[in-house]
Amino acid sequence: MNGETPKSHAARAALDYVKDNMVLGLGSGSTAEIFLELLGLRIASGLKVQGIPTSKRTAEVAEEAGIELLSIEHADRIDLTVDGADEIGPKFALIKGGGGCLLREKIIANASDLMVVIADESKLVETMGAFALPVEVDRFGFSITAKKVFDVLKQDGTSRPDVVLREDKNSGKPFITDGGHYILDCACGEITHPVKTAAQLCAVPGVVEHGLFIDMARVVIIGGDHGAEILER
Ligand code: 5RP
Repeated sequence: MNGETPKSHAARAALDYVKDNMVLGLGSGSTAEIFLELLGLRIASGLKVQGIPTSKRTAEVAEEAGIELLSIEHADRIDLTVDGADEIGPKFALIKGGGGCLLREKIIANASDLMVVIADESKLVETMGAFALPVEVDRFGFSITAKKVFDVLKQDGTSRPDVVLREDKNSGKPFITDGGHYILDCACGEITHPVKTAAQLCAVPGVVEHGLFIDMARVVIIGGDHGAEILER
């Protein structure tokens, strides 16, 4: 790697949690990709692990890095998932899905014995919601689902939520997730009761998954200019 950055400090510190013969959940996003690159170097030096990717993009990057992939259907356990986050709030509640991979990320994190989050310090927040919450929805009836999602967020105290269908930056067409769904980006300003909001979003028909990850991360590694701080709960 050419020079360390806050993200690379966090990614490097996460390597300490990786042991021989582990099955790893491989996160998505720029910080997770630095971790994949560093993990690949360890594998080249003799470490033996298998990885389950949380996105098609991560599968490609992991293969390039020399990480052996395992299909989730063939995994009897996932020891550790290392993934990034868009926001890290109180009690390690997370907003994820900036890269549109939240559904697979959540399935894999939830199935893991340990989830370690790696991020730079800009991701740590006291109140969640400055980052627009990604909500993955079925394409069928998505505009009706969007109205219901708006109602949930409004009831939960957001004065005027802004719910926008995510577009693919290159084509200008709706962004399609690896699972074939749409994403609604929901600008809330503040999410003051993430546990309640998470439960209410799950109850909306058409919502496939939302980007609030509650009670999943046990370790958060925050990278700074000069190293990484490890927070555990
Ligand atoms: C993708 C994610 C990413 O982990 C999140 O967007 C953070 O990405 P980055 O490390 O590039 O800031 O949730 O769906």
